[in-house]
Amino acid sequence: MQITVRPLQPADLEAVLRVQAACYPPSMQEAAGVLLARLAAAPATCLAACDADGVCGYLFAYPSRLGRVTDLGAPFAVAPNADTLYLHDLAVDPRALGRGLARTLVADMLERGRGLGLAHAALVSVQDSTRFWSGFGFAARATNDPGLLTYPPGAVYMARGPA
Ligand SMILES: CC(C)(COP(=O)(O)OP(=O)(O)OC[C@H]1O[C@@H](n2cnc3c(N)ncnc32)[C@H](O)[C@@H]1OP(=O)(O)O)[C@@H](O)C(=O)NCCC(=O)NCCS
Repeated sequence: MQITVRPLQPADLEAVLRVQAACYPPSMQEAAGVLLARLAAAPATCLAACDADGVCGYLFAYPSRLGRVTDLGAPFAVAPNADTLYLHDLAVDPRALGRGLARTLVADMLERGRGLGLAHAALVSVQDSTRFWSGFGFAARATNDPGLLTYPPGAVYMARGPA
């Protein structure tokens, strides 16, 4: 099956909401308006993965600072003095799991981060995904950002770099 990766667009919102609903529990669903605001704030670092039936995965990211966490459900505050590509949300529809979509999205995004001159990349790992992220060189790091407490228990701040 042919997969293409392209920038997310506002018209993808419905598909993104469907994927989000399939991938996260009710307590982690983020509002449509916040997703659109994130896309408007960081259009160059929000990606869609598509198959023949349309959007089947997405990755929202933005330029931030090392150690900083985005609260669950909050808009992106793009940092003027960014040093870090913050990967906020990666999700793949159950219909497309295990086909390398997530790997493709993350590799493409890390390349974009390098292109933007961001030395680090960081994220909050949820739903037991630390092993997936460590495959890309991310490791658990300490942060005192209280935003981490907006995530369910078990969330882990991870970072990699310098690139
Ligand atoms: C995690 C997720 C994005 C992986 O999507 P995917 O497209 O199936 O992943 P890929 O096919 O690209 O897999 C890449 C590699 O990661 C591994 N992997 C996939 N999901 C994993 C997980 N949850 N934990 C550990 N390893 C995982 C795969 O086995 C594969 O390894 P391999 O190349 O050595 O075989 C997907 O399961 C998902 O959307 N989960 C729900 C949302 C979520 O929790 N996102 C993470 C937020 S931090």
